[in-house]
Amino acid sequence: MRQAGRVLPEYRKVRESAGDFKTLVKTPELAAEVTVQPVDILGVDAAIIFSDILVIPEAMGLNYEMEEKRGPIFPKKISSPTDLDQLHIAEGEELGYVLEAIRLTKKELNGRVPLIGFAGAPWTIFSYMIEGSGSKTFSAAKKVLYSEPDLAHRLLDMITSSTINYLKAQVRAGADIIQVFDSWAGILSPEQYFQFSLPYISRICDAITEVPKIVFAKGAFFAREKMNSIACDVVGLDWNMDIAESRTLLSNKTLQGNLDPCALYGSFDDVRRETKKMLQSFGNHPHIANLGHGLYPDTEVDKVKCFIDTVKEF
Ligand code: CP3
Repeated sequence: MRQAGRVLPEYRKVRESAGDFKTLVKTPELAAEVTVQPVDILGVDAAIIFSDILVIPEAMGLNYEMEEKRGPIFPKKISSPTDLDQLHIAEGEELGYVLEAIRLTKKELNGRVPLIGFAGAPWTIFSYMIEGSGSKTFSAAKKVLYSEPDLAHRLLDMITSSTINYLKAQVRAGADIIQVFDSWAGILSPEQYFQFSLPYISRICDAITEVPKIVFAKGAFFAREKMNSIACDVVGLDWNMDIAESRTLLSNKTLQGNLDPCALYGSFDDVRRETKKMLQSFGNHPHIANLGHGLYPDTEVDKVKCFIDTVKEF
């Protein structure tokens, strides 16, 4: 969960030398370097390739910029059916810089820990392509679901095919497991989620048969029961999801998560106590210890280490 991102001074140094975020993402040697940093410095049990979910819209024909302190911006966005004509279904090889970063990272890791590949879920990617940036409400993206459902399904279908091509290419390049991030799942009603998001995630899980799959749908507590029957191996939980309830609803799945990243603002004793409490709640259910979402940039590195050490000691 945004391990490398910003909490490590070593990361910020490399990012500065690259000049900006996108150059870092597009320079395989540097992307591989910051991917391995959390393994060496923090001692995490897996690496996640340094990239972004927004490389997919870019490969499809919609360029993005990452603005300092504002986040991603798309100079052009999708607002009508004719806009779809400017897009194409991406081939994995079009994202050659990510694939090269994966190959270099695998070499550097040399089997020490597995490497996680990833992509955004089609609904989350769709919402950036329609809004043109982040949003509090994503009301423009939701408007399309209500007013132009055919356009929505056509675009979601193109994103899904592109994502399958991309994830398969990541696996060929060496990714040991893949994760799908549905960061904006929680703004949809259950009915909309089951119509416009989960079926596309399910299609991705059906298509990727080579490696295990993790699905993280932030805020989609209402979808847990249905997720138990899609072809993923692991379901990521955010900190709003009750652990005991999740163990019952997701009895077929390994669970991942779910400490509130803000718990790391507490004292060392607080961090140890909260982490142990979480681990105990997962009991004997297959579990990958993690946070419930990404680290915030002002988290102290030593608190992150304390979280990781507590997990390992436990
Ligand atoms: O641990 C890692 O660093 C892995 C690489 C990774 C990044 N983004 C790097 C990044 C991963 C897995 C992502 C996924 C991603 N990107 C998601 C899904 C996960 C989630 O957080 O819900 C989303 C929604 C994005 C889109 C995105 N990228 C936003 C909204 C932002 C700006 C806001 C923010 O949190 O800074 C980014 C930028 C980004 N992607 C950074 C990193 C390390 C921060 C850039 C920097 O300051 O260096």
